[in-house]
Amino acid sequence: MFIDTVLSPPEIDLLHQRDLGATTCVVFDVLRATSSMITALANGATEIFPVTTIDEARSLKKKNPGALLGGERHGDRIDGFDLGNSPLEYRTLAATRIITTTTNGTVALRACERARRVLVGALLNMDALTSLLKAEQPENVLLVCAGTFRETALEDVFAAGMLCASFPEAAWSDAARVADSVFRAHEGDALRCLQESKNGRALAAKNRADDVAWCARGSIYATVGEMRDGIVRKI
Ligand code: MLT
Repeated sequence: MFIDTVLSPPEIDLLHQRDLGATTCVVFDVLRATSSMITALANGATEIFPVTTIDEARSLKKKNPGALLGGERHGDRIDGFDLGNSPLEYRTLAATRIITTTTNGTVALRACERARRVLVGALLNMDALTSLLKAEQPENVLLVCAGTFRETALEDVFAAGMLCASFPEAAWSDAARVADSVFRAHEGDALRCLQESKNGRALAAKNRADDVAWCARGSIYATVGEMRDGIVRKI
């Protein structure tokens, strides 16, 4: 197994130039898009449609009137949408289909769509993800850190490093080594890392420290989400 890591949004923009046909991508947007998706899947959502624009979300809603519209811009719920991007909102859902658009997380997922497999990564499901990869032993694993706007997000790199640390026998790129170093620098303390991160501090300033604490919880769900043909479902 060879593990590589994409650390920043500008690298995500270039993914379409890469042949991902033999690669399993794991996309991390720990604060908060992929944590919200895993929470939703673990609590009854059957299909999540990650899309990149608000217009796309609205037109998909017209074709799927029963689906809920979720997501954020600048961390806040989008006007007219049913849900924002807080994972806490996704614990009890009135609908099982969700269309979501977020600043970075949904963009990163869709950028991987030509990969052999695309998995949804979070701290919330880290053990389940690790077990799946250990069982399947894909030849190439690409850990995609969704980031924030155009910047690297510490919490995504920490999560990628946590996953790398479970595969000491694999070959790692230098970027994977960077992620592992970030994980080790925090001595595996996810809550501390998330609270120190720029996103964590921004969420706390918006009275969303509960979201940060939720996203820092380790492996509370044995749920793995996979995106196929633009739809995320529980495996
Ligand atoms: C994103 O996709 O950029 C994030 O998940 C933003 C957020 O915290 O809602």
